[in-house]
Amino acid sequence: MDYKERFLAIKKFLNEHQYLHELELLERSKDELSTPYHQWALELSKLELNDLLKLERDFETQRLANFDLIHFVKEAQRLSEVATLKLASSKLSPFIERKLTPKKIHEIQKLVTLVDQKFTHKNIIDFGSGMGHLSMALTCHHHRTSVCVDMDANLQKKGQEKIQRWLPELKNKMQFIQSKILNAHDFPVDVKNPETLLIGLHACGPLSTLLVQSSPTHLISIACCYHKLNREYNLSKISQKNPLWFSGHALTLAAKCLGTQTENDLQLKWQVKRYRYALHFLLQQEGQSFVSLGNAHASDYHNDFAHYGKKYAPELNKFSDQFLNDFFANDKTQEKLQYFFKAGTLRAMLGRLIELYINLDRLLYLQEQAKEAQLFKIFDDSISPRNLAIVF
Ligand SMILES: C[S@@+](CC[C@H](N)C(=O)[O-])C[C@H]1O[C@@H](n2cnc3c(N)ncnc32)[C@H](O)[C@@H]1O
Repeated sequence: MDYKERFLAIKKFLNEHQYLHELELLERSKDELSTPYHQWALELSKLELNDLLKLERDFETQRLANFDLIHFVKEAQRLSEVATLKLASSKLSPFIERKLTPKKIHEIQKLVTLVDQKFTHKNIIDFGSGMGHLSMALTCHHHRTSVCVDMDANLQKKGQEKIQRWLPELKNKMQFIQSKILNAHDFPVDVKNPETLLIGLHACGPLSTLLVQSSPTHLISIACCYHKLNREYNLSKISQKNPLWFSGHALTLAAKCLGTQTENDLQLKWQVKRYRYALHFLLQQEGQSFVSLGNAHASDYHNDFAHYGKKYAPELNKFSDQFLNDFFANDKTQEKLQYFFKAGTLRAMLGRLIELYINLDRLLYLQEQAKEAQLFKIFDDSISPRNLAIVF
């Protein structure tokens, strides 16, 4: 990939479609989106959920007719492509795997292979290490040592207890330092030592930026939680010429992208959004503005709409349950729900591009510092979607 060319093309595309990513679509308009998105949303609203999934996940355009929409999808697909680094899955000690999710096991298995194949370092610094599972796997059966740095003392204590109980042979190979990293020139460890490999596995939000800015000699950085960024991006000179800044909504979109992989995922999303959106339409009809609900409980979606509405918008208690459920079941409401829910797929297709913008900007910054950094996808989308790794 020509990183600079891709970065500029993504920037142009995201600029052109700012309407889609800047705000949630419900906030854009009461009834319909502006041109050309209105026509596109009408076309999407006719799709079955499985076709919508194929569109969002695989950029499948077979069911589409609108030429401009097809072009949008194909361009989003082209710009989203990233080389996959095919890595075998290293076998982990069953003691390390204890109580780990399949997702975390997958990530660690791939990273152990990556480090074994590409790096000969004996010392690792594991930033945002949490309990230190990655370091356990990297030091177990290897002549390596690791320093785990994390701000969360509780997680570190749990990691030390796990080592004490199940992996005592690692006690002398792993060290835990509790520290909150706040700036790129003030680390509690020597990050510039050429003998040291820095790793940040899902070092969330600004921590991944700080690792990139710390002038490491060798780094593996897999970022996540872009919504926690507060302008800690646009690092490269190329981006600074005319930087693109994202809204909180857009950063959240990046942090969650590729999360819809199965029909079940899409069904669950539909269950949540149909109530949330219908509540929004009703409040709008009542002359109220957009409200953010926070996290509803999964069981709320198994009850009827009236139960949900009254729980999250107590002002609806003045209406009967019958009135609220009729509002929900009404053809017009259902049509509008399909329209806005399915238009969400247009937005979803931009999430990976925002993630790529942020990662390519970091990579270009590193290249400007004469680092031979590369960007790969290293985890399976369906297991761990925050899978872009900057490696050098
Ligand atoms: C998403 S978790 C990842 C944990 C571990 N690497 C893993 O993959 O399981 C991110 C970790 O980074 C730590 N963290 C976030 N920001 C930090 C900072 N500025 N300084 C130190 N630790 C930080 C958090 O406490 C958390 O344990």
